[in-house]
Amino acid sequence: MKNLNTIIQGDCIAELKNFPDDSIDLIFADPPYNMQLENALYRPNNTKVDGVSDEWDKFPSFVEYDEFCAAWLFECRRILKGTGSIWVSGTYHNIFRIGAVMLDLGFWILNDVIWHKTNPMPNFLGTRFTNATETLLWCSKGKNYKKYTFNYKMMKQYNAHKQMTSVWQIGLCIGAERLKKADGKKLHAAQKPEELLKRIILSTSAQGDLVLDPFFGTGTTGAVAKKLKRNFIGIEKDYKYIAFAKTRIDGIKDFLPEAEWLEEAKGKRVKVPFALLVKEHFIDEGETLYSLKRYNATAFVCADGQLRHGNRTGSIHKMGAFIQETLSCNGWKFWYIARGGGLIRLDDVRTEYLKGGSG
Ligand SMILES: C[S@@+](CC[C@H](N)C(=O)[O-])C[C@H]1O[C@@H](n2cnc3c(N)ncnc32)[C@H](O)[C@@H]1O
Repeated sequence: MKNLNTIIQGDCIAELKNFPDDSIDLIFADPPYNMQLENALYRPNNTKVDGVSDEWDKFPSFVEYDEFCAAWLFECRRILKGTGSIWVSGTYHNIFRIGAVMLDLGFWILNDVIWHKTNPMPNFLGTRFTNATETLLWCSKGKNYKKYTFNYKMMKQYNAHKQMTSVWQIGLCIGAERLKKADGKKLHAAQKPEELLKRIILSTSAQGDLVLDPFFGTGTTGAVAKKLKRNFIGIEKDYKYIAFAKTRIDGIKDFLPEAEWLEEAKGKRVKVPFALLVKEHFIDEGETLYSLKRYNATAFVCADGQLRHGNRTGSIHKMGAFIQETLSCNGWKFWYIARGGGLIRLDDVRTEYLKGGSG
């Protein structure tokens, strides 16, 4: 593929037409929101709110916005591999229209992920609830394209061993990550946080894959793709954003340290010996473990991480198997321990330990 790891300057509808069919592994699109802002918004202290009031966000009507979206989404679907998927990010202003256009074009919605902004901009006029979410539609190429990449186990690992839900709590892009102009003002009104792209790229692509972003802006997709060892192509019509995005991406020399680790962890679970939990007093010597109700058995924790049940001693797995009269047993799921006024599974104690909680 030519233009690998570069930014194409131009209108994405025209540029997307130059890509071959079935050539892209992952698309992230953060298109204009069509916010239809009429007047500038001011805070109670009369300072102007730095919202999305740029020319690139303005469309004469809903009809024209829908036509624009249908045109770029049609090309995106054509160039997306059958094993690929697309994420489209939007606000309440546009995401419902985009969802309808996508379904009409044949895309299949896999999830609507809610980005819950932990530090949203207040509703200065006090006329509505503070808007604290954006929606990301994650879609396959169509209902019958079932072999899309989804690194389920890796994301569970990323989420402290708990299945990741479709609500992501991430702050707005602020501080050192936010690109600024020479006058110190924000370069771009809609720069996305890297954490958002990290989850998208990690979960739905593999190292070496090609990630396309047709509304590249400050190049967040390219920056994260590079850090996670993916290839990228960006399309952006505004020169000034391209210059900043290029400098930003060229400046990335170190890959995210956990990129390797997470890839390695794909499909694997970090091993935590039961004895380690005892050694670190997450579970104490002499504590009682309780079996599943129907076996009605108990065992005592020994100092070396073994269990004592009657006159027998063995690992949590071995003693679980003995009680059930089976050849093997997953002791993490079989045994319970008293915590917080109730019984919880050993597996949950292990998860707490991995998260760095208290025993
Ligand atoms: C919502 S912003 C994307 C921000 C980006 N995700 C980031 O993190 O910086 C949309 C961008 O699309 C660009 N844009 C708008 N219409 C376009 C078009 N037809 N072709 C290419 N770029 C376009 C705008 O200049 C703007 O930078």
